Amino acid sequence: MAVAAVFAASFLLGSIPWGVIVSRLFFHTDVRQHGSGNIGTTNALRTLGKKGGAAVFALDAAKGLLSGVAVGLASLLPFQAAPSAFELQILSAVAFLACTWGHIFSPWLGFKGGKGIAVAFGCMMVAFGPVPGLIELAVFIVVVAASRYVSLGSIAAALLCPITAAFVFWPNGWAVAVCSLAAATVVWAHRGNIERLRAHTESKLGSKKSDR
Ligand code: G3P
Repeated sequence: MAVAAVFAASFLLGSIPWGVIVSRLFFHTDVRQHGSGNIGTTNALRTLGKKGGAAVFALDAAKGLLSGVAVGLASLLPFQAAPSAFELQILSAVAFLACTWGHIFSPWLGFKGGKGIAVAFGCMMVAFGPVPGLIELAVFIVVVAASRYVSLGSIAAALLCPITAAFVFWPNGWAVAVCSLAAATVVWAHRGNIERLRAHTESKLGSKKSDR
């Protein structure tokens, strides 16, 4: 029951399309009509500028951070026994998966959405803890700084995620598997970027050109 409650609350939280809301409300445009068409931070930065990009990053990451609250509330549900440490790890992993899925498959956007990086970062900060979360961020920053491809940094951080999850949760294989599924979905969401990287047509950081 707690798993279902955490999944539903985190999915709904993740589904809030901040990129669309911020661009429509404050920039009188729709971020989906520009650049890569993605609703996330990179395209918000590309399309709306630094303030828009920062706002979308903060709001998307906040969704991930708040998914931790869903875990806390679910563990207080009156009709169940308090979850064990093992069960809490699974609940944290489920919150990570559901929040990321909510963002990537938002029902408010016809089950389309973003690529899940900022939201996954917020989720990892609570599910894994600040140090593993910041290590993931550091890997992202190093790869982006070296390559100038945000998508490559995103994919590298996502590929590292199952290893990070194993460090944090092992021997809880269920929690590692659920986090790995979230990471695999993020890589899948970048399939267009992967094609463009292979074709050397992906936009570099700072480029304004459309890369769809
Ligand atoms: O997190 C999204 C980023 O990795 C790529 O975004 O807009 O360049 O497809 P975008």
